[in-house]
Amino acid sequence: MEGTAQGLARGLTNYGDADFSVYLRRSFAASMGYSQDVLKRPVVGIANSFSEFNNCHRHFPEMVAAVKRGVLMGGGLPLEFPTISLGEVFLSPTSLKFRNLMAMDTEEMIRAQPMDAVVLMGGCDKTVPAQLMGAASADLPAVYLVAGPMMTSRHGEERLGACTDCRRFWGKYRAGEVSRAQIDDIESRLATTAGTCAVMGTASTMACIVETLGMCLPGTAAIPAVHADRLRAAEASGLAAARMVANPIRPSQIITEKSVENALRVLLAVSGSTNAMIHLTAIAGRLGIGVSLERLNRLSDETPVLVNLKPMGSAYMEDFFFAGGVGAVLRELKGKLHLDCLTVTGETLGDRLEREGGYVDRRVIAPAAQPLEPEGGLVALFGNLAPRGAILKRAAADKRLFETEGRAVVFTSLADLAARIDDPALDVRADDILVLQNAGPQSEAGMPESGYLPIPRKLSAQGVRDMIRISDARMSGTAFGTIVLHIAPESAIGGPLALVRTGDRIRLSVAEKRIDLLVDEDELARRRAAFVSPVPPAGTRRGYDRLYATEVLQADEGCDFAFCRPQVGPVNPAR
Ligand code: FES
Repeated sequence: MEGTAQGLARGLTNYGDADFSVYLRRSFAASMGYSQDVLKRPVVGIANSFSEFNNCHRHFPEMVAAVKRGVLMGGGLPLEFPTISLGEVFLSPTSLKFRNLMAMDTEEMIRAQPMDAVVLMGGCDKTVPAQLMGAASADLPAVYLVAGPMMTSRHGEERLGACTDCRRFWGKYRAGEVSRAQIDDIESRLATTAGTCAVMGTASTMACIVETLGMCLPGTAAIPAVHADRLRAAEASGLAAARMVANPIRPSQIITEKSVENALRVLLAVSGSTNAMIHLTAIAGRLGIGVSLERLNRLSDETPVLVNLKPMGSAYMEDFFFAGGVGAVLRELKGKLHLDCLTVTGETLGDRLEREGGYVDRRVIAPAAQPLEPEGGLVALFGNLAPRGAILKRAAADKRLFETEGRAVVFTSLADLAARIDDPALDVRADDILVLQNAGPQSEAGMPESGYLPIPRKLSAQGVRDMIRISDARMSGTAFGTIVLHIAPESAIGGPLALVRTGDRIRLSVAEKRIDLLVDEDELARRRAAFVSPVPPAGTRRGYDRLYATEVLQADEGCDFAFCRPQVGPVNPAR
């Protein structure tokens, strides 16, 4: 029965009598008030990541109702199930640590429960990659439905959108340009509707990537969370998932080498979040597809920046939606894209773009012939400080700092940073390079979004707005500055970043795509020999914390768990 079984007859609970298992399951399902006719339908699961610890998903109950309507229209039985939710700002030490847990939850619940297709509902930063990673591994027909972005708000005459403006105003407050009363007033105006952050942060970048990959319905990535079109998209997503039961298209047919390359192009053209590199690498890795930083650089050299959204530009996601959204960007990039990639609708990307057209607001989405920047928004750096790579969002950085040699001012941990950054006695100048160690994936910090080191208060008070900052941490997609991130291998396991000392010279060259520590090899060898990892031994940790510490991969491998990838390596008996 297993191979051809449909609906509630799929994936039976094992009692040693398949017919009894079906009988029992139907009778228990009937207890929820379903008729026998409805219980015979194919089942469309709805992976709902609603949580009261996730403001970005607060409209999901209304969206779920619309998805269910669509599934019923398509002849399916919609069955909603909860998964872990990851509300970006509610998680400690950082949401990335739990992305893989959500991916495992999603994968296993898709696999374990009887469903023929699934609608994945997420949006806040890590939820989208987590669900796509899980769905890719489960490989059941799936349609993604993103939360959609928040609407902007106002403070006086200024538009406010989470969370680039959160950082902008906090920077002004630290510099004494905004009063305590003003910052308190702004606090309640930064995030005023349901939905994900209003700029091209990680959530919006991942939504654009989902649409480019072909895992959601065309045109749905940028619809504001509170717009009626979002509910129509939900209904259509439910209908599409129900239709996929008869014509199954699996994530492994959609997420391919070619569609991943298309996604990288769009990431570069929208000048998206640096986090998206980690997430796309992890998603692709679930299907055995490699995403190298060298490949990113090759694509970045020939992919222009087209989208004028914060944090790089001036517009917000609602403007992007009305300007033409992802479709308009894809049409501009058409000549560089693989058009034969399949999407959840069954049509190819090329089919889609052939049929689409219409108004494009050129203030928000530039034509490829007149791009905002000739090269992509992200660039990978290599060198003796980052043998396996690092990343810089060059479109959101200060070009005057691109070719710099400076003195390192080192902070050995987040606690050290917090203790000293605003110390009036801190020996730091505007042309120094701030270095943060021990904030990578295996560190106790868990690779938080703390790569956006604050400008020391005594310098920000003098008007310094940007400095080169270097770390193995991440940065919020809503942040900006000349910030080198994701250095691999990380310092906590002895990567070269661990060897930097205050007073060393560091050279950054964006033109050469290099980041180097200018210390002679003998001295580095001495420091390497004296290195002691601050990571507590695995034996002193327990539960998920231990699993994470022992299995998480480095940033250039997407920070996935090694054992979740298709090819599992040899088991280490010491673990
Ligand atoms: Fe959820 Fe920004 S906090 S997307």
